[in-house]
Order: sequence, then C-alpha cells, then structure tokens
Amino acid sequence: MQERQAFANWITAMPKAELHVHIDGTLTASRLLDRAAKHGVDLPYGSVEDVTKAYDFDNLQSFLDLYYLGTGVIRDEEDFYLLMLDYLTTCREQHITHTEIMVEPQSYLPKGVSLATMMSGFKQAVDEAQAGWGQSVLLILSLLRHLPEEDGIDVLELAHSSFPGSFVAIGLASSEVGHPPVGFTELYARARSLGYRTTAHAGEEGPASFVADSLDLLGVERIDHGIRSAEDPALVVRLAREQIPLTVCPLSNVKLKVFERLEDHNLLEALDAGVKVTVNSDDPTYFGGFLNENFIALHEHLLLDGKRAARLTRNAFEASFLPAKAKADKLAELDRYLTDHPSP
Ligand code: HPA
Ligand code: ZN
Repeated sequence: MQERQAFANWITAMPKAELHVHIDGTLTASRLLDRAAKHGVDLPYGSVEDVTKAYDFDNLQSFLDLYYLGTGVIRDEEDFYLLMLDYLTTCREQHITHTEIMVEPQSYLPKGVSLATMMSGFKQAVDEAQAGWGQSVLLILSLLRHLPEEDGIDVLELAHSSFPGSFVAIGLASSEVGHPPVGFTELYARARSLGYRTTAHAGEEGPASFVADSLDLLGVERIDHGIRSAEDPALVVRLAREQIPLTVCPLSNVKLKVFERLEDHNLLEALDAGVKVTVNSDDPTYFGGFLNENFIALHEHLLLDGKRAARLTRNAFEASFLPAKAKADKLAELDRYLTDHPSP
C-alpha cells in the first residue's frame, strides 16, 4: 500500500478529539440549499457547486460574511437538530470520539430564534449520538466579540439560568482585529465565578499580544488558534512552560490566508518547542476538510509523522474539558489503539 494511504487509514481509524469547531461552520452546502428551500429563503446560489465556489476567502471577515449568511437558513428545531446530527454523524465516520462544539446564540437571537429552539434541536441530536454510538460531546458557549461585552454577559446569564449544565465553557469568536481581549474582562470574570471553563480565539489575525492578554486579562485556560504567538519567542516559552493548549486549525489558516501555504505553517515548530498543540477543523465545510483531512494534509504538506500525529491527538484529549475519569478512559483507549496499530 502507498505510504500516504497507509497514514490516511491509520489516522482515520485513530480515536481522536476535536476542541475547536463552530457548529455553524459544519453546515454543508446541500443542507444550506435544502433549508433555504424549506424556508423560502432566496440565496445567490442555485447548486452545491455554486456554493462551494463562494468558499474562496481573502481573510477572516470575507469568510464571516458568508458564515453569518448560512445561519440565516437555520431557524427551527428541526434545522438545529439536523445541523448537529450531520456533524456528529461525521464524527462517527471520522472516529472523533470526543468533540467540544462552539454554539453561538448571538447569530440567532436577533433574528427572533430563541435559545430554547436551538437547544432543543441540538439536545435531540446529541442524545441520539450518545445513545447510538457513545459519542462524547461538550458544548461551549461562544460569544461574538464584534458585539458589545454586555450583550455577551446577557447571553451568558440567559444560558446559565435557562440551560444550567448545558455548556461546559465559554469562548470568544468573530473578528479579532479591533476587538481586543481587554474589552471582555467582566464577561470572563462572571463566567469563571459561575464555574465555567474558559477559552478564547486569539492570535489568528490578531497579534501575539492578544494571546498574552487573553491569558492575563481574561484568565483563559486554552487559546483557540494562537499561531501568531510565534512572533513573540518569550510567549512561546511561556506557553510551553505553562502547558497552555493551542487549538490550531491548519486548513482554516490557509483558507483565511493566515499562512499562504500549508508548507509555511508553524504548528510543528510550536509542538517541537513543547507547546501543547492540538489539530482541529474550525469550520470544516467552509475550509475544505474535517479533522482527518486536516491531519492528512499535514502529512502530505508538512511531513507530519506518526509520532507527532499521536502526540497531537494525546494533547487534544489532555486539553479537553472532560472530567478526570472520562479523560483517563479516552487516553487509555488511544493508548490501546497505538499499541495495536503502530504508526505506519
Ligand atoms: N475565527 C474567528 N471567528 C470565527 C472563526 C474563526 O476562525 N470561525 C468561526 N467564527
Ligand atoms: Zn474558530
């Protein structure tokens, strides 16, 4: 068998964790069209080919414009159920045994869609996947940084009072430039006081100082992306020393032109410097691949070997927000896989 195919088969069958995926970024082109038809929404695209042609982005903002357009066709409980079930079905196919999914109510609440509608659809899909194939799922309440901090606090309070225990953590997403971490200190202080775990996007399009500020001002435990930390060597040393996980999204970074080519990506240098790097898909249907495709592309373009691929997967389970016992079980399952299937 070709070496490339052997790696692809090995990584595909490996039990893996995903820590950085936006549920709205898993909307497939066919589901977008089918929901638009259901609700009589006029889209500027007639076919799956038309939609995929639009996945040609110049930067984060050009992607976000299309991404928020997609949320316009997800309106009722069945839509949220199918959106979640489509992604969880892919998790099953890809052996993503644990996933932590970002849910963004602020994309829906202003359009009159209630949090109850969203959560009811999501919960049905999550329950079905848990009962059906033992899928492990945690939800992250992801707040949008282009909106005022008070709006994020209101959504946190709403989620906390109406759906206690449904979200394990909060996150911060959307346009980074112009919306620095310093504007969200109260939101994070409140979330921490309520017992939520914490993560935030930083150092994707924003500078390395946004990573340090997210740690120092927001007290986050994990950084989403964080690849621009490399611009500050002292910060990289700190990330390694404090074992701060980075949820890196290689195909996303190339699609949004953070790196021109995958060959230029710096995640293996960070990994080799001792940083707790993980691999994730971010918005897989928009960026050309789910988790396995990210690993396979790293193998093909960045010469990712089996030893580092196993390290990246171990990091993801270790960096997860799972309780200790569940985490230990997932790590033991990974160890059994690696013993039975040494890397090709
Ligand atoms: N960055 C910021 N916000 C986002 C992203 C991203 O990559 N994907 C979805 N929302
Ligand atoms: Zn993201």
